[in-house]
Amino acid sequence: MSEQSTPAQVAAVVQGREVAEFPVLAPEAARGRVLRVTVTGEEVLHRRNADVPEEMLGGAELGRLVDDMFRTMYAAEGVGLAGNQVGVDLRLFVYDCPDDDGVRHVGHVINPVLDERDVDDVVVVESEGCLSVPGPHADLGRAEHATVRGVDRDGAPVVISGSGYFARCLQHETDHTLGRLYVDRLSARERKRVLKKMNEMSAGVFERRQVRAAELERELAG
Ligand code: NI
Repeated sequence: MSEQSTPAQVAAVVQGREVAEFPVLAPEAARGRVLRVTVTGEEVLHRRNADVPEEMLGGAELGRLVDDMFRTMYAAEGVGLAGNQVGVDLRLFVYDCPDDDGVRHVGHVINPVLDERDVDDVVVVESEGCLSVPGPHADLGRAEHATVRGVDRDGAPVVISGSGYFARCLQHETDHTLGRLYVDRLSARERKRVLKKMNEMSAGVFERRQVRAAELERELAG
């Protein structure tokens, strides 16, 4: 008797651990609220944010913030979101991002620190965008592999590694917590082009986010 072999499918890697099944929207989203996403130019985006203090770990306030950030990220159709992107001066980010092999990575990292880049690692130039620079994208070189270390909302250590698009996300989000946007890594000319484009596109993006937030409300209620 022949049985069709099912490939070893990993539904998601959650907090760095493979799980067989994971819902389309992380459970945090159902508990969270949609917050306003900050836009480049707002002060909190352009400086290193405060480390999440130890006394917040395991607390309700931090838990709520992570929930809200997931909901906000989904409403804005992003793959990652940092604390200062919801106006909070704390170093953390959430993500729900595929890598180049189609593996979905979901989680959050508090006080993230990016490992130094391996000298042998390749720099890949790909298109990148940011919810705080609504609309445009630009090509940018990033390391092909990245590892971020930090803790989870309860203070347990986490080590998150990724490649390709997910490695790009880990670098982009850690940058945010240090006050750096991807446009700061572009040439002056390219940066100017992107910001001009943002001014043309942002109203449409904000509208789209409102629609998506309302859809989410219905999906999560039903
Ligand atoms: Ni961003």
